[in-house]
Parts: sequence; C-alpha cells; structure tokens
Amino acid sequence: MSDLLKNLPSLTSERLLLRQLTLEDAADMFEYAQDPEIARLGLWPGPIKTLAESEADLRDVLRDYQTGRYAAWAIVHDLKMIGRIGFHYFAFDSRAEVGYALNRDYWGQGYASEALQAVLAFSFNVLDLNRMQAIVLPENSASIRVLEKVGMTREGLLREYVKVGETFLDVYQYAMLKREWLSV
Ligand SMILES: CC(C)(COP(=O)(O)OP(=O)(O)OC[C@H]1O[C@@H](n2cnc3c(N)ncnc32)[C@H](O)[C@@H]1OP(=O)(O)O)[C@@H](O)C(=O)NCCC(=O)NCCS
Repeated sequence: MSDLLKNLPSLTSERLLLRQLTLEDAADMFEYAQDPEIARLGLWPGPIKTLAESEADLRDVLRDYQTGRYAAWAIVHDLKMIGRIGFHYFAFDSRAEVGYALNRDYWGQGYASEALQAVLAFSFNVLDLNRMQAIVLPENSASIRVLEKVGMTREGLLREYVKVGETFLDVYQYAMLKREWLSV
C-alpha cells in the first residue's frame, strides 16, 4: 500500500489527467491558490501570497510523496494544471480523507466531480481502502454537491472541528464505504 502511494500512478478520466505534482506546477497553482475565497472554502490557513510560497508548498508535497502517507495529484486539462486533489492516508484502519480545489475559471463544468470519481475508484479498487471521508463547510454548496453527486453520504455536523486563524468552524462530515462504491 505505502509503496503504491510512494509511486503514485497517474489516473485518467474522460477529460482529465491526474498526475503527480511537480515544481513546474508552481505558477498554475499560484494562479488559483492566491484566491482568498478558494482558501476560505478549502479550509486552508490562508491564500498563497507569492510564487515562492507556491514553490515551497510543492516542495513539501514532493517530500510527502516519500512518506507514502499523503497522496496528491495535479488535475490537468488540456496540458494546464487547473487544480489539485489529494488525501491523507490513515494507515491504521484503511481510512483516508480527501480534499480538492480548482481554478475558478474551470468551475461548474463537472471537473471536480470527475476527478473525485477517479480518485475514489483508485482508492477503493486499487488501494483497497474501506472508507473515504471529506469535511466541508455547511455553506460550501458547490463542494457539497460534488460529494453528493459521487455518492458520498452526510454523516453529521462536526462542531467547531476546524480551527482557521482564531476561529473554530463547524463542518459537515461526508463519507463513502467501499461496499457502497461497489454497489453503485
Ligand atoms: C468545490 C469545487 C472544487 C467544485 O469544483 P467544480 O469543478 O465546479 O465542481 P463540479 O462542476 O464537478 O460540480 C459542482 C456542482 O455544484 C453546483 N453548484 C455550484 N455552485 C453552487 C451553489 N452556490 N449552490 C448549489 N450548487 C452549486 C454546480 O451546479 C454543480 O452541480 P451540477 O453538476 O449538478 O450542476 C470548486 O468550487 C472549488 O475549488 N472551491 C474552492 C475550494 C473548495 O471548496 N474545496 C473543497 C473543500 S471541501
């Protein structure tokens, strides 16, 4: 399992290529990651402020690839990196938590749902995970729609679960089990 994560394969879908991130993605990532609304909805500590910060973030990802506990793909459309999807892998019981963000210019065209489907297929069919979960702000209607479109179930409201700056935020928890994936 962790060998698979250390050598994360590319995934393809109808319109997208999901591949390992590289330092060359810094400019494309900076293009969307400087957007304060994307950072807020993505529950990040804050937007990325400079190209150098984008490069530093990618260097961390490259380091994380070595540990096999974090998987992250660049979402590529027509050779442009338009977003990112990835998950933290919790080895002790085959459970992981997925997150994603997309360049605003590409919203509303089904790309996030398509990318998430590809990652779920890889996670359940290849990695043999039993459970994939996600947390989302209650006002993040687009992401909630993405999670529900792919068949994830809202399990409840986690009260003051995430700390962003000095504020504790409520989030919904969504999840899907392998047997649910296999039955759709
Ligand atoms: C969440 C995000 C990745 C969605 O990307 P996307 O490619 O536009 O998603 P999709 O096109 O696959 O699906 C979005 C769905 O939400 C719907 N939607 C969009 N805005 C909406 C709104 N304000 N209210 C209700 N539904 C909305 C779209 O119509 C679409 O549903 P449909 O296919 O039934 O028409 C993108 O908005 C984003 O990057 N947001 C900022 C970061 C973020 O929120 N990350 C997730 C953290 S949990």
